[in-house]
Amino acid sequence: MIYISVKEAANKWGLNERRVRALCQEGRVDGAFKQGKSYLIPEMASKPMDKRVKTNRDNAAPSLYNNDNIDFRLYKKTYPTKDGFFGPYGGSFVSKELAKAFNEVYTGYLTICKSSRFIEELRRIRTDFQGRPTPLYHCERLSTYLGKVQIYLKREDINYTGSHKLNHCMGEALLAKYLGKTKLIAETGAGSHGVAVATAAAYFGLECEIHMGAVDIKKQAPNVAKMKILGAKVIEVNEGTKTLKEAVDSAFAAYAKEYKTAFYCMGSVVGPHPFPLMIRDFQEIIGKETRQQFLDKTGELPDIVCACTGGGSNSIGMFEAFLDDPVKLVGVEAAGESLNADKTAASIAFGKEGTIHGFKSIVLQDNNGNIKDAYTIASGLDYPGVGPEHAFLHSIGRVDYASITDKEAVEAFFLLTKLEGIIPAIESAHAVAYAIKCARTMHSGSIVVCLSGRGDKDLDYLIENYPEYLK
Ligand SMILES: Cc1ncc(COP(=O)(O)O)c(C=O)c1O
Repeated sequence: MIYISVKEAANKWGLNERRVRALCQEGRVDGAFKQGKSYLIPEMASKPMDKRVKTNRDNAAPSLYNNDNIDFRLYKKTYPTKDGFFGPYGGSFVSKELAKAFNEVYTGYLTICKSSRFIEELRRIRTDFQGRPTPLYHCERLSTYLGKVQIYLKREDINYTGSHKLNHCMGEALLAKYLGKTKLIAETGAGSHGVAVATAAAYFGLECEIHMGAVDIKKQAPNVAKMKILGAKVIEVNEGTKTLKEAVDSAFAAYAKEYKTAFYCMGSVVGPHPFPLMIRDFQEIIGKETRQQFLDKTGELPDIVCACTGGGSNSIGMFEAFLDDPVKLVGVEAAGESLNADKTAASIAFGKEGTIHGFKSIVLQDNNGNIKDAYTIASGLDYPGVGPEHAFLHSIGRVDYASITDKEAVEAFFLLTKLEGIIPAIESAHAVAYAIKCARTMHSGSIVVCLSGRGDKDLDYLIENYPEYLK
């Protein structure tokens, strides 16, 4: 058989060399094999079909998902409504006092956050302080280990402070500053949001108060230390399960007393309107960068994009840019101990419509409609509800939701670390585990995982509870 080089195939097919190498690597060029750092390609091999055609988002082609009359080209203009609803989900169910406070935030969001001064300042912060854009990393060793599917990571763990949370915290804190507030109040689960809020407070010279469940304070000690070093006051919450849900209750109560001078920094796309909208908009930088980076690297779109989903801020931030693309989107919830509705945090899988923390969504509930305690090893996913936009995207079938157990996430944590030298947050390891599971059943294609954070905060807990992985 006669073989030609990548350069020759690129000329023949009218593609660039990088694209041809990527196609070979994905196993989509029949008979091609690796030689040194490049490939040899049978002269007779035909040009692989390009899965990706649509790159102009304003073209006149009909929307790919005209589900329930939703045209995804207009999605952001339609959802949420001005009252904060995504279909039946969302809204604002709070006391008169808090409604007044959140209305001030909404007005600020509509005016201040849309001003060119605000946008320019946030852009500068993202580049100079946060270190954006974060890279899109091709996991060559993990992909080879798994077979034929190419796995990519959007490295939000490299975002300054080690997680995606800083994307919305810098936006929220900047708005607080413009509104003349002097203090930030927030809840935190894994501490990633707490560290990001404390960092934003230090950056802008604001006072800071973080509410955190006693269980999480113990589990996520490195993040608690960071918050204190940054000058935040950490309030230990000892009610209920002493985790994220109770931390939100406690932080809301503190804010209700101080809303005239303080700003509530919501930690995810949850809570009353306008937080799910505002946090989504601050986080959509993740998907925008990823989409462009993937196109630049491969010339096409990925087959699957997945992200772990607690409240849902990293996943919404990732998905938004792909809603009108032929890409499968998967939110990965924490199944907890097993796929058993009793000890889980998988709200979409096991929940029902209900109201939690001032918004309507899908919520874990017992037979009497009381909110049920969530359970998962991952403090950042330990929440019995999910952002209203996720409930909506699930209801219209645009986003799929999968569940990953503690055990699967821990396995993925150690596998990614060993093969790629990247230590993921245990939350992010849930999305990695889903990608691994999926890749094992696919013959070709690509999966992008949002690596929402880094795992330093989880090391003590994992070493103590899973010593078998260190042998
Ligand atoms: C690293 C990391 N990833 C993901 C999450 C889950 O949050 P969300 O679903 O809002 O992205 C958290 C929450 O603390 C986190 O710390």
